[in-house]
Amino acid sequence: MPSKKPLVIVTRKLPDAIETRMMELFVTRLNLEDVPFSQAQLAAAVKEADVLVPTVTDRIDAAVLAEAGANLRLIASFGTGVDHIDLATARARGITVTNTPGVLTEDTADMTMALILAVARRLSEGERLVRAGKWQGWAPTNMLGQRLSGRRLGIVGMGRIGQAVARRARGFGLSIHYHNRRRILVEIEQDLEATYWESLDQMLAHMDIVSVNCPHTPGTFHLLSARRLKLMRPQAIIVNTARGEVIDETTLTRMLANREIAGAGLDVFEHEPAINPKLLKLDNVVLLPHMGSATLDGRIDMGEKVIINIKTFADGHRPPDRVLEGMF
Ligand code: 8YV
Repeated sequence: MPSKKPLVIVTRKLPDAIETRMMELFVTRLNLEDVPFSQAQLAAAVKEADVLVPTVTDRIDAAVLAEAGANLRLIASFGTGVDHIDLATARARGITVTNTPGVLTEDTADMTMALILAVARRLSEGERLVRAGKWQGWAPTNMLGQRLSGRRLGIVGMGRIGQAVARRARGFGLSIHYHNRRRILVEIEQDLEATYWESLDQMLAHMDIVSVNCPHTPGTFHLLSARRLKLMRPQAIIVNTARGEVIDETTLTRMLANREIAGAGLDVFEHEPAINPKLLKLDNVVLLPHMGSATLDGRIDMGEKVIINIKTFADGHRPPDRVLEGMF
């Protein structure tokens, strides 16, 4: 990294405060129109930049990285998930990758609870009914949902976000179960009164609600495969605020249509922004446009993390949020 101010290319519009601070600290090129970069534009950006600031909508693959100039030393991603970046190729080319962990935990956990509530209590269906002018008035058997209290929540991926979901869910009277690559610290487990299932298959077969909170990696692609989805109980609901690729979306859609799974709350999709048209027709799903971490506070915190990572790196130190091998 040269000692002069680094050229930082930002691929999407960020909050004003973040863009202004970046302009003050670095030679920054912004994308005020907020039109996502094409693969050719990304290739041109990495050829020129000292630092690239991409988001989840940019596919930083081997072909893009092959175009990287010698001065591209840092990819400071705006977001926690890094599945849009070819980490192995970046590493092989000596490019450091950073992300923004921790600052979107609470917002994403809030959205997970919102989806659990929305699906169990049929929020979107009720709202659609009212807006369509079809509500005929209260009736004892109308819009009956599922009571949350006393039910079992199975969290797939008990990292920061999974634990934040568990803390909230306990307040709603849910009992907490989880599956994780590694069992979490016994103190945390006890604190959350969480039950660890080494076998994901067995956990899925026993849960009323399943929440996906693990990152998308080669190891978690279709973790909830057709075979595993079929283990779930027909009255169960599933929510996903992590990555669409973790669930076999085609099978899930078919099972929801056949009521082999009772409902789903999805904030993320396998082929974003495209959504399986069959999902759009279902009443027992709540569909959101990847907005789990979308609060202004969160976006500013994420931007500040990006700035700290770039500044630390530019000053010749190791940035705090380096994505290390084996982390994802
Ligand atoms: C972010 C996310 O908004 O950080 C993540 O992994 O999924 C989102 O909540 C997005 O990634 C920004 O790049």
